[in-house]
Amino acid sequence: MYSLLQRLRSLRHGFWYGVSRRIRWSRGAFEEAPARELCNVDPEPAERIAALRDRYQVQFELGMSAATSRNNYEYLDLLDRGWSSLGIGRPSGGVLCDIGCASFWYAATLQAFFQPDRLLGVEVEGHRLFRDGRARIDYAAGYLWRLPNAEFVVADYTRCLLPADLITCWFAFLTPAAILAWRLPLSLLAPERLFPRIRHNLRPVGLFFMVNHGPAEAALAEGLCAAAGLRRAGRWSSPAALSRYRMLPSVLSWWRAG
Ligand SMILES: C[S@@+](CC[C@H](N)C(=O)[O-])C[C@H]1O[C@@H](n2cnc3c(N)ncnc32)[C@H](O)[C@@H]1O
Repeated sequence: MYSLLQRLRSLRHGFWYGVSRRIRWSRGAFEEAPARELCNVDPEPAERIAALRDRYQVQFELGMSAATSRNNYEYLDLLDRGWSSLGIGRPSGGVLCDIGCASFWYAATLQAFFQPDRLLGVEVEGHRLFRDGRARIDYAAGYLWRLPNAEFVVADYTRCLLPADLITCWFAFLTPAAILAWRLPLSLLAPERLFPRIRHNLRPVGLFFMVNHGPAEAALAEGLCAAAGLRRAGRWSSPAALSRYRMLPSVLSWWRAG
């Protein structure tokens, strides 16, 4: 199935993934130096950011770097615009579980938009070591310390029993190229296990929200959702002022249990 080159890359990534899991290195919570204000923002995005600040009472740059703050405004913008197009109320309270959250740098956005009682971010490679000698859990601890209801869970979601009212998944891996580019082994590419697990963990009246890179990846993910017994409740994609740097438009979709 995989080429020799892909298998060699996977072996190398698997080795480092195994090392970081065994070492479980941590230097403690790491907080980014706050940017305090965002400079050099073009008029259109600046206007949009100002509107989001007002509507959700956030100012990410007071606690995060400029880059992380801009990324949070982008995710908040997608949520805000996508949800308005959907025409169903935004869930609030309950348990929100985000799958594959990386360092969970966008936890503050999920908190501001959904205001869950409990916010979980599940990441399989939580112990990844970075060049600065810090681990992903150190970054996650820095992003979460202001959110007492939030938790960073280092686990393979396909094996987790985590019932939730709202499950979110931003840019899941569906192809070998994507997972290898993220420096993970191919053994972690298991969409055929991921979507049935989401279906299993979704509470009866719960909602699954997914974001994919472009229409082709979205079509692939949507086929897997349907095969797992999820029913689509909505879909939205549109060029957004804060996402112009992306090569492909983000495709948002909403799913209910069958
Ligand atoms: C493309 S990244 C997206 C990260 C984040 N959602 C974002 O929007 O920036 C996908 C993430 O999913 C994680 N991941 C992959 N398979 C996973 C699994 N089975 N369980 C939990 N996390 C997983 C990867 O380690 C990676 O951090």
